[in-house]
Amino acid sequence: MQTSAIILAGGAGKRMQSKTNKVLHNLCGRPVVEHVINACQETGISRFYVVIGRDASQVRERLGDDYTYVLQEEQLGTGHAALQVKPYYQHEPHVFVLCGDAPLITGATLKRMQQIHLEQNADVTLLTAIFPEPGDYGRVLRDANGQVCGLVEVKDATLEQQAITEINAGFYCFRARELFQALEQLTNDNAQGEYYLTDVIQTIYQAGGRVASCTLDDNNESLGINDRVRLAEAEKVLRQRIRNRLMLAGVTFLQPETCLVDAGVSIGQDTVIYPGVILEGNTTIGRDCVIGPNTRLVDCQVGAGVSIEFSVARQSTLGDNCVVGPYAYLRPRTELAAGVKVGTFVELKNSQVGAGSKIPHQSYVGDATIGAGVNVGAGTIFVNYDGRDKYRSVVEDGAFIGCNSNLVSPVHIGQDAYVAAGSTVTKDVPQDALAVARSRQENKEGWVARRRQRIP
Ligand code: UD1
Ligand code: CA
Repeated sequence: MQTSAIILAGGAGKRMQSKTNKVLHNLCGRPVVEHVINACQETGISRFYVVIGRDASQVRERLGDDYTYVLQEEQLGTGHAALQVKPYYQHEPHVFVLCGDAPLITGATLKRMQQIHLEQNADVTLLTAIFPEPGDYGRVLRDANGQVCGLVEVKDATLEQQAITEINAGFYCFRARELFQALEQLTNDNAQGEYYLTDVIQTIYQAGGRVASCTLDDNNESLGINDRVRLAEAEKVLRQRIRNRLMLAGVTFLQPETCLVDAGVSIGQDTVIYPGVILEGNTTIGRDCVIGPNTRLVDCQVGAGVSIEFSVARQSTLGDNCVVGPYAYLRPRTELAAGVKVGTFVELKNSQVGAGSKIPHQSYVGDATIGAGVNVGAGTIFVNYDGRDKYRSVVEDGAFIGCNSNLVSPVHIGQDAYVAAGSTVTKDVPQDALAVARSRQENKEGWVARRRQRIP
């Protein structure tokens, strides 16, 4: 079936109490509205009309150029929003109209709606759910034959109607011609003075059209983000879905409910995630890793067989079999080749480290290129900043940096060279050389005994 989708994303969202449009709020690493678009994409829908109003340019910027944006100049209601699409609408005979603030909808449900819509040759098919306490959702009205004959918003509902437990989830599949015809007849004669999309159902019914419905199995899918309590509820549900999907694909979670994994994260088979792990953005993790406890990775690429505990990494790449932590901090543009060890209280930034190199204890490595098989001794500091500019240093393969050294950048340490412990290196060190850059030790024999005589 040729279907396109109208996504309503222009509302004021007052209940959110935010300076940002609610559809842009972050939910598991994506804006709320993107989850709705993703569900559509799963069903093969490729043409989208996104109605924007509040923070229009921000919404556009965030979602990118793949969609047709339709500006709703004034926020006069969901029906008014949908009507704005009419002049831009292409030829697909059927169209979904979806609330951009209900991110838990799944592709499977949209497919089911599509199927019912076609099988019943409906003019509109709407998604409903049964809630014992339906709160602020619109209520579904049915005629004597049980056919849906209209929707009523809570603010306009009689007490009797308010007691109805079947609600409107805010997702509809329309025959496009019928939708736009009915939208043009809308009035705003209601409690909120808005043009309600929901009134279209009654218009179609009264004109003798066929109104079909599809009832949700999982009520969570209808959850609309009207305020931050709902946002938190949606997050809880989505996090669990994400973890369950990963577990079914072969990832072990210990205490899964303590781990937060974003929608865009992928994790390989037989990786074990310990409690307190947060995986954000476009993080990918390979097979057979052990991550956590208490580790946060943001936009990181992690190979296979890696172990990371009690650490934070952002925009970093870790090759296979790296060992990181406890208590390491990898800042953006850190690249570790295979088998690198980054140990306790080590911070790296904008640095590449070659295969098998070790930085085991209390070091700062900023703006450095470190070769393979290098040992960076405890307490080594790359002095990359002179208070005004940053400089890079290079350490070639096989070099050995003794403990408590300062490498004052820019400096070049040659292949297999040694830097004596406690050195402050300000000049390049040639290949195979030993650099000693510290004052020589002097022992004053008998000094303590003489002092004792002077000061008894
Ligand atoms: C709407 C439905 C309600 C349903 C609920 C499901 C109407 C009148 N009511 O109520 O029956 O139970 O969704 O979640 O449709 N929007 C615009 N322009 C506007 C107004 C809204 O683009 O002028 C967008 C919003 O950004 C939002 C969506 O439409 O994404 C729904 O609007 P909202 O105000 O949240 O509707 P509800 O009160 O939740
Ligand atoms: Ca809503």
